[in-house]
Amino acid sequence: MACGIIAVAASKGSLPRKLGIVLRESLKSLEYRGYDSVGYAVITKDGKIFLRKSKGMIYAVAKKLGFDLVDGLIGIGHTRWATHGSPNDVNSHPHLDCSGRIAVAHNGIIENWRELKKFLLQKGHVFRSETDTEVIPHLIEEFIKQGFGPYQAFKEAVKKLRGTYAIVALNVDAPDKVFMAKKTSPLVIGFGRGVNFIASDIPAFLNYTRKVLVLQDDEVGYITSNGVIVERKSLNKEDAVEWISIDYKNRIREVEWTPEMAMRGGYQHFMLKEIHEQPQAVASTLAGIKDDVEDVAKAVSKAYRVILIGAGTSYHTSYLGAILLSNIGGVSSSALISSEAIWYKNSIGSGDIIIAVSQSGETIDTLLAIREARKRGAYVIALSNVVDSAIPRESDYTLYTRAGPEIGVAATKTFTTQVSALALLSVKVGRRKGLINEYEEIEHLKALNNLPETIKKILNLYEGKAKAISRTMKDKLSAFFLGRGYGLGLSMEGALKLKEIAYIHAEAYSAGESKHGPIALVEEGFPVIFTAINDYECELIKNNVEEMRARYAWLLSIAPKKLLSRFGKVDVSIPMPSLPDTAAAVSYIIPHQLIAYYAAVAKGLDPDKPRNLAKTVTVV
Ligand code: M6R
Repeated sequence: MACGIIAVAASKGSLPRKLGIVLRESLKSLEYRGYDSVGYAVITKDGKIFLRKSKGMIYAVAKKLGFDLVDGLIGIGHTRWATHGSPNDVNSHPHLDCSGRIAVAHNGIIENWRELKKFLLQKGHVFRSETDTEVIPHLIEEFIKQGFGPYQAFKEAVKKLRGTYAIVALNVDAPDKVFMAKKTSPLVIGFGRGVNFIASDIPAFLNYTRKVLVLQDDEVGYITSNGVIVERKSLNKEDAVEWISIDYKNRIREVEWTPEMAMRGGYQHFMLKEIHEQPQAVASTLAGIKDDVEDVAKAVSKAYRVILIGAGTSYHTSYLGAILLSNIGGVSSSALISSEAIWYKNSIGSGDIIIAVSQSGETIDTLLAIREARKRGAYVIALSNVVDSAIPRESDYTLYTRAGPEIGVAATKTFTTQVSALALLSVKVGRRKGLINEYEEIEHLKALNNLPETIKKILNLYEGKAKAISRTMKDKLSAFFLGRGYGLGLSMEGALKLKEIAYIHAEAYSAGESKHGPIALVEEGFPVIFTAINDYECELIKNNVEEMRARYAWLLSIAPKKLLSRFGKVDVSIPMPSLPDTAAAVSYIIPHQLIAYYAAVAKGLDPDKPRNLAKTVTVV
């Protein structure tokens, strides 16, 4: 789905540690992007490429391959999430050309790799792996053979590629440079003192610099220890590719993230740390969007309708956002799964507002959906956690959450910050449309501003209880998460958490629908988790609870304390504070996150790195 790339170009004495250790630690911080194999290539003092790579997790591979012993000034590293070719030593990156003088690491998918490979095989190139990536070093080699210099040959190769790519490349004939190219997959440059970096994400070089440049699509260039060159592909009148030199100085930004933010800080896992960071993340987000949200509310209140689009957790945010904007905002709103949005394209047009929810700002399904919507005249607002990422760049306007880097693969603080932002937006829209009065607005705002305290309280009260519940859950093979309205959106997110990190099959369903089929699965001890946030939901759900109890299901209810009696006798309950819907839609997810986290730990799993998953999904 995604891979992690790091490249370093250093001058003598600029790195406090050996290059191999720098690469190892950078890759560790990118591990959330993919972790089935790891590798690095450096240019040695005697001008050769030293390559080591293997299947396996970073620290184990680093030990096996002696990362720590490697020194040098120029190197690239890669952590992989396999797309073409299974995860094994040979398919790991970097990949070499025939001569072993060029090394390439790549994230993305080269769509025309088969035809390129055929062409290169005819020219006598010998391939070692099953990857799409390997065509790149051979293509560069081919252009070198045709007489191009190292940088020119790199650019000629890039011209031939179709698909998505973030590429870094070494060539021993340009021993002070790392070449780079970007299309769709992310690349950022970090400007240090006597050392420059290229990486898939900022945490990879946060220990050295906070000065970053986010590369844009169709940009190529290279870094040396003291310089960065960027050019952009453009077509001239004859439709031939030209490379235009880019003055990027005013695009360089100083990020607020600190190295500590990207470290575990005493917690056993990033996921637990990120669960506990939610009070701060929500507070920063609400404060950060205070002004922007007024502009967005103005636009949204005039929209014909709003469609929220997202994938995975971001779809669940979209689902909750659609209810918030309909119920509190009074705007016709619905939610679509990004990869399904295409089926609705003919009905999307001007007057529609699309809210594209994506913490990474990179998810290709969401990106493709907004491209289509914009083509059809819709106005697109991104809701993202990563400044200048692809989705914000291709949107008309962006609201940024301020969750800080989220390293755990399972979304936690990015979910609560996204929902907080949409909750605030719905209040502002509702006020403009006259659906809520001044008093109601104040009540919502008070509860939203109080969310950091509310979340802290829930964490303090229920972490132990969630841990105890997880001991029951860990032995279950399957579970239902039922709810209505907001409760259903929260159930969908709760089920995803349990599924993805504890590997327990979990199905979220509308409680009202459960009797139309799913109930057939319920037998004695089958876990059913009910979530309801308000009086109306609790009233509607009580019959469904009854139906499950009659089948001897194991029942857990997460609902306002004062309404729990409506559920009758359940096995366990988590009494939540009574809150306006806006604040409840954010905070009622906390018990779900904790139960999933502790169930994964109880099963001996690593919640930060669930199997088969990657944090950022840049393939369709
Ligand atoms: O970066 P995005 O928010 O666009 O990512 C979309 C999904 O891949 C993501 O929300 C995923 O479902 C979560 N990491 C699951 O916890």
